[in-house]
Amino acid sequence: MASILGGIVNMKDKLAGKEISLTDAAVEKLRRFEAQLDPARPEAGPYAPRIIGYGEMSTVFSFDDVDLKGLAFKRMAVFRSESEILPYEENFKQYSRLLNEIGVFTPDYGVLRLNRHHHPVLYIFQRMVDPLRIGPAYLRATDRESALDLFQRVLLGFDRVFSYNADHDDLSLGFDGQMSNWAWQDERLFYLDTSTPLMRRDGVEQLDPELFLRICPSYLVWVIRLFFLKDVLNRYYDLRLVIIDLIANLYKEKKIDLIDPFIEAANGFLRERYADLKPIRRKEVDAYYKEDAWIWRIFLAFRKLERFVKTKIQRTEYELILPEKVER
Ligand SMILES: Nc1ncnc2c1ncn2[C@@H]1O[C@H](COP(=O)(O)OP(=O)(O)OP(=O)(O)O)[C@@H](O)[C@H]1O
Ligand SMILES: [Mg+2]
Repeated sequence: MASILGGIVNMKDKLAGKEISLTDAAVEKLRRFEAQLDPARPEAGPYAPRIIGYGEMSTVFSFDDVDLKGLAFKRMAVFRSESEILPYEENFKQYSRLLNEIGVFTPDYGVLRLNRHHHPVLYIFQRMVDPLRIGPAYLRATDRESALDLFQRVLLGFDRVFSYNADHDDLSLGFDGQMSNWAWQDERLFYLDTSTPLMRRDGVEQLDPELFLRICPSYLVWVIRLFFLKDVLNRYYDLRLVIIDLIANLYKEKKIDLIDPFIEAANGFLRERYADLKPIRRKEVDAYYKEDAWIWRIFLAFRKLERFVKTKIQRTEYELILPEKVER
């Protein structure tokens, strides 16, 4: 018995993502990249950088350079001091470790702290996966049966996270389950989005919510703090909302034909594993999508206005990198 169990544990160890570090050459190059980075023209910097993803809190780069290639770098520039960035880094490591322990595997990962104009910047890096194997691209290219197969695997991932939460009173993991955060590669499922390590210890959010407000248009900060922040964070701890969020995003990903089959699969999963939760209805998915799309469009418009005022009128630097156009 012991040896069989040992086998399973070893197998899991092999699949799990682990912490890795950068070579000295890579660190030196990133340092130079950061020093020369112009947030308005990020791809003009050295080492052939390419933006491969925009997040709410981060911009994701890859580089076509011998020392940097093969890794995805998530650049986070919201920090103002060491005392903000250090706990964030620790949370990131703990979150990544925990996910891998419970069987939600990430690519190998690591962090690097740099400085920009006396502000610390965090680079969270991961081994790169093939962009065509990331959720939305994969769904676009595959048939309905494989799409459903992937969704079933993702639901299993949700089950690992939310049964961990149910079993641990002292610690719960927040989770952003949408398709763009998963990759299906080499017959393995990878979870990519660990750069916002949401965790509640004894009910207290470990991430400083003020960091989220930094990415908000300054005109809106007080409204968001008052009305939205709690809801936005809560939804990552609610399995039903995590699933609705994933399915509602199929609108944005132009895979509307998958919405009903995914709802059916999700309800089968809920019936079997979470019988106390109400089944998901199409109406809820549609309403969620409308609200979400509206909020983000306004949000981005305000951020662009703010960038315009800062760079063109006040002639100061706008330190965030913004996507040009987000389709929702
Ligand atoms: N390891 C990776 N390999 C290839 N592409 C990646 C990798 N990690 C991220 N990406 C690309 O960048 C996008 C955004 O990355 P990710 O989901 O990790 O961060 P995010 O959405 O910015 O998260 P947050 O807003 O929570 O910081 C992904 O959807 C994917 O397209
Ligand atoms: Mg993401």
